[in-house]
Amino acid sequence: MTFQPPKGTDDLMAPQSQAWREVLSLWDEWSGRYGFPLVMTPVLESTELFRRAVGDTTEVVTKQMYTFEDRGGRSVTLRPEGTAGVVRAYLNSGHQGAWKGAYSGPFFRYERPQGGRRRQFWQVGVEYLDVEGPAADAEVVELGYRYLESAGVPNLELLINSLGDSECRPGYVAVLREYLRGKEAKLGEDSIGLIDVNPLRVLDSKADQPVLVDAPRMVDNLCDACSRHFEAVKTLVEGLGVPFTEDHGLVRGLDYYTRTTFEYVGRQLDTAQNAVGGGGRYDGLAETLGGRPTPGVGFALGIDRIVLSVGELDRPYLEAYLVSETGPEDALQVASRLRRDGVNVDFDSEGRSVKAQFRAARRIDVAVTLVWKGEGEPIDVQTKGGRQDVPLEEVSDWFKERT
Ligand code: HAM
Repeated sequence: MTFQPPKGTDDLMAPQSQAWREVLSLWDEWSGRYGFPLVMTPVLESTELFRRAVGDTTEVVTKQMYTFEDRGGRSVTLRPEGTAGVVRAYLNSGHQGAWKGAYSGPFFRYERPQGGRRRQFWQVGVEYLDVEGPAADAEVVELGYRYLESAGVPNLELLINSLGDSECRPGYVAVLREYLRGKEAKLGEDSIGLIDVNPLRVLDSKADQPVLVDAPRMVDNLCDACSRHFEAVKTLVEGLGVPFTEDHGLVRGLDYYTRTTFEYVGRQLDTAQNAVGGGGRYDGLAETLGGRPTPGVGFALGIDRIVLSVGELDRPYLEAYLVSETGPEDALQVASRLRRDGVNVDFDSEGRSVKAQFRAARRIDVAVTLVWKGEGEPIDVQTKGGRQDVPLEEVSDWFKERT
């Protein structure tokens, strides 16, 4: 075949897609349990939305967006992240007061592809809007942690920091800028370029960490309100039994954050791509987008990285395979009956030999093979442990008892 998927994108099918299915359905379960209904926004948004929300000087906006003109001459962008679109949707909806939404879908960033870093990747996430108190931060932080834990991400770590707000951050940024100017001789070119436009982002530079150990820290410059909020969040998260480490260098790559920021790290993964998720508060974002003041907090998790870190499931995607001794039309009827009764089963619709049907069952590695011998005959239920005859109408109960 001459056509390949675009660089940095993947085709995904069984058996690899099985782990994805499980991790995604687990997400629906956990996000639902914490009271987050589904929110869906377009994959395509106006370019200006991301420029304003994410920030003109961020790498996401300057280097990574898939931006193009549509046929009507509008500049549109494939969403590189989900918060901007969800906040836009909330503001447009006219909803007043606290609001929760969970999402799951593809996102796009033009990055240098490698393991765990794709140009099309999948995020799940939540946004909790019009909430100000630290309990909201703690609830959101806990949800991400519990979900990742139950998905089985090994060596999971939670890092927490505070970035202050419009009250205390400008003062800190000025102090930091001064400090960085004094260190210019030792900083890399990228960092020097950021000193004027966005000095906070310099703290994120991996290469310059040795120069940054003594840099002034936001936590030492928080105003009283931010400091109280940060202390309260930490106390609440601790009270929930969620372990975390304070990381004062955690600034995140998007400009909308205020106060709490956090990241979930899977220490098992390659160090460059070990953030399985991150988030924080963005109390000024709604106003940046022209809306009424609406504080909010949320996170997004990278499903590609989660699947990489939990490893592929070799569990088969089917519970049972139906082998028919009387042809595919009968198998169709029998499978239909079983499926309506809740059994996860497939069969061969092409009328292949019984031997070939058994081969297919082995290839999928199903735990149970059901042999249909004809009308009025019981189903011959075969497992690794042996075989037994079960009347068709009792097969679904047999499966229920088995689990
Ligand atoms: P983010 O840290 O840019 O945050 O992305 C969240 C997660 O998405 C990352 O930790 C990573 O697991 C995954 N991810 C990002 N880029 C890629 C990529 N190129 N390939 C594979 N995985 C990737 C946000 O997007 C914010 N919107 C999170 C948020 C929600 N903050 C508040 N609410």
